[in-house]
Amino acid sequence: MAYENILLAKDGRVATITINRPDKMNALNHQTLSELAHAFDAVQADDSVGALILTGSGEKAFVAGADIKELLDVAGNDTGAAELAGFGQSVFRRLDELGKPSVAMINGFALGGGCELALACTLRTASSKARLGLPEVSLGIIPGYGGSQRLARIAGPGIAREWILTGDMFGAEEAHRMGVVNRVFEPEGLLEGTMKLVNAMLSKGPIALRFGMEAVLRGWDMDQAAGEAMETDYFGKAALTEDMREGMAAFLEKRKANFTGK
Ligand code: COA
Repeated sequence: MAYENILLAKDGRVATITINRPDKMNALNHQTLSELAHAFDAVQADDSVGALILTGSGEKAFVAGADIKELLDVAGNDTGAAELAGFGQSVFRRLDELGKPSVAMINGFALGGGCELALACTLRTASSKARLGLPEVSLGIIPGYGGSQRLARIAGPGIAREWILTGDMFGAEEAHRMGVVNRVFEPEGLLEGTMKLVNAMLSKGPIALRFGMEAVLRGWDMDQAAGEAMETDYFGKAALTEDMREGMAAFLEKRKANFTGK
C-alpha cells in the first residue's frame, strides 16, 4: 500500500510511523486511519521490528484530533459517526495486539483522537511544549476512539472525568504529574530521550516484554484474584523460555544478556 498521509520508516529494530498532514495539524481522516491500520499490521508482521514509535509531522502537532470537517460530513446520516468511531477504535486496538511496545512521541498538540491515539500506545513521551486534551465536549461530542475507557484506566476515573468534561488542554508536565505521560523532554531532546527509552526496552527479552504488556492490559478488566491467576500463567510460561535461562545466567556471570526471543 502506498501511503499518502503517513510515513513508515525503520531504523534497526525500531519502526517509526509519522502522521504526515502538517497543514491540517495531522488530523485523522478516514484515509489516514486506514493507512495506520495497514502500517500497524505491517509492523506486527515484521519480526525484525521490536518496537514502534508514533509521532506527528512538523513542529506544532502530534495529532490535533479526528478530522472535524470529515466528521461533520459523516455525521449527516444516522449511523455515520458511530461507524467512524467503531472503525477508529478497531484501528487503535491493533496497538494492543501488536505484541511489541509502542511509544507515542508527542511533539505538539495531542487533542481528541490524537490524544486517544497516544493513549492507545503502550507508553507516552512528550516535548515540554506539547499540549494534550480531549476537547470533544466543546464540539458537542465525546471521545469516540476509546479515550474515555483508556484514560480512565491509565490515569483513573477522576482524571478522565476532568479531561472529558472540561475539554481543557493540559501541558506536558501537568499530564506527566497526572500519570498520562510517562516522560517529558525538552523539544530538542525528545527524539533522543524517546530512543533511549525504546532501546532500554529492546535490550530486554521480547517474550517477557510481550507477557508484561499482556498481563497489564488483560488485567484491566479483572479482579485481583483473576488477575493474579493470569499473572501466574504468564510467569510460568516465561520461566520455560530460553530467554529466562539466558537472563539469569547473564546476571550470575555478571555480563549483558543476549536474548533471542525463544
Ligand atoms: N480537523 C480538521 N482540521 C483541523 C483540525 C482537526 N481536528 N485541527 C486543525 N485543523 C486544521 C485547521 O482547520 C486549519 O486548516 P486551514 O488552514 O485549512 O484553515 C489548520 O489545521 C491549522 O489549524 P489552526 O486552527 O489554524 O492552527 P492554530 O495553531 O491556530 O490552532 C489547534 C491549533 C490545534 C489548537 C486548533 O487547530 C484546534 O483547536 N484544532 C481542533 C482540535 C479539536 O477540537 N480536536 C478534536 C476533534 S474531535
